[in-house]
Amino acid sequence: MKITLPKKVAFIIEQLEQNGFPAYAVGGCVRDSLLGQTPADWDITTSANPQEIKGVFPRTVDTGIAHGTVTVLLEGESFEVTTYRIDGQYEDGRHPKAVVFVDQLAEDLRRRDFTINAMAYHMHHGLVDLFGGRKDLTEGIIRCVGNPKERFTEDALRMMRAVRFSAQLGFVIEPETKAAISHCVEQLSKISKERISTELVKLLISPHPEEMQTLYETGISKLLFPWFDVMMETEQRNNRYHCYTVGGHSLAAVKHISAKPHLRLTMLLHDVGKPNCRTVDNEGRDHFRGHPEISAVMAKEILRGLKMDNDTVDTVSTLVLWHDDEPPLTPAAVRRAIHRIGERHFPDLFLVKRADNAGKSDYGQKEKLAYIENYERLYEEIIAKNQCLNLKDLAVSGADLIAMGMKPGKEIGETLEYLLEQVLEHPEENEKERLLGMLP
Ligand code: CTP
Repeated sequence: MKITLPKKVAFIIEQLEQNGFPAYAVGGCVRDSLLGQTPADWDITTSANPQEIKGVFPRTVDTGIAHGTVTVLLEGESFEVTTYRIDGQYEDGRHPKAVVFVDQLAEDLRRRDFTINAMAYHMHHGLVDLFGGRKDLTEGIIRCVGNPKERFTEDALRMMRAVRFSAQLGFVIEPETKAAISHCVEQLSKISKERISTELVKLLISPHPEEMQTLYETGISKLLFPWFDVMMETEQRNNRYHCYTVGGHSLAAVKHISAKPHLRLTMLLHDVGKPNCRTVDNEGRDHFRGHPEISAVMAKEILRGLKMDNDTVDTVSTLVLWHDDEPPLTPAAVRRAIHRIGERHFPDLFLVKRADNAGKSDYGQKEKLAYIENYERLYEEIIAKNQCLNLKDLAVSGADLIAMGMKPGKEIGETLEYLLEQVLEHPEENEKERLLGMLP
């Protein structure tokens, strides 16, 4: 199997070797190349220690000297070059207490997480595949190198990585590896929220986000995302609009939206509050009144807890809050909805509504879809006409009111809001003279 190494990668390997240090491309870049994909980055493993690596290349950055990693800079590109190592004891399940550098590629590969990630490649020596990585890649299997419990104890995040890789590649997790996840799951409590949420997002934006189901089956979500387990265990099938549990519906909805983090997170969380507001009517049907409001509050807390950035928290919780909002389909009502929800959340909101609808039973689907399409058409007409939808587009400003003799303060804000309401109802009124004429 031939892999074409980028010129700069081959150059780094050659330079190291000319100085007496064997070196190989390793890990994800070899996996991706064998899959016929273009690797996002190329990592190199070598017998040289960090000082020796720095001696070979003029421009380097000390990325993780303690762990043997030096970044080599070549004409604006950067490559991580890491010393072969065997990891000593792990203190927090992640960082090795002592890193012993060993002059052996095999020892390095033995400590990597999965067989598909434990292959090395050299332009002259070819593929080094000591653990059946290529076979697992062909057969679609995520399997730990050696003893899975040892691999997960070295770095508990690997349990989430197993699920994430299976979702990205459409692979199955080998049974012994999967059983070891259930066995070691508690160790994930030591992992930082930032690392967890990076993996969650990678899983969600993968081609198989429904692998969230595996987080549930292995007990990972019980520990990290307990709200997801509650969703998976909340029935709503005795409501004719639904054919899945709340969790099942949410995963179906996730699959029906494009693979952007904020959209996938919105679909995952859009009904998270449902279990908290479930009522059953006299005919035994489930209802979830007020669930968008509760879901929005919970989504905010959950995303903050996962240390997501403020923009993601705001955007997702806003889309969750309004996912079920159905204004009457008149131009004025749609203008008011755009103002209420915020123009920046359109047209995402339509994607959310469509995905929500697609994850439901066939009952009422057509009517809902027709509603969304008409809503969208009205929205597009309003945008095309460039109509005023917020204070910044109003023909009257606070300065105009002050010039008229109004005192700066609350009254100005209230007056502007009043005028905006008039304009949302009658866009043709958005002229300074006409608006000022409306005031007492
Ligand atoms: N690795 C590991 N255990 C981890 C993280 C990484 O053994 N917890 C090893 C694997 O050999 C992996 C390589 O380090 O292939 C590079 O790690 P990383 O860049 O995180 O992952 P990739 O495999 O490149 O995949 P991705 O970039 O999608 O995370």
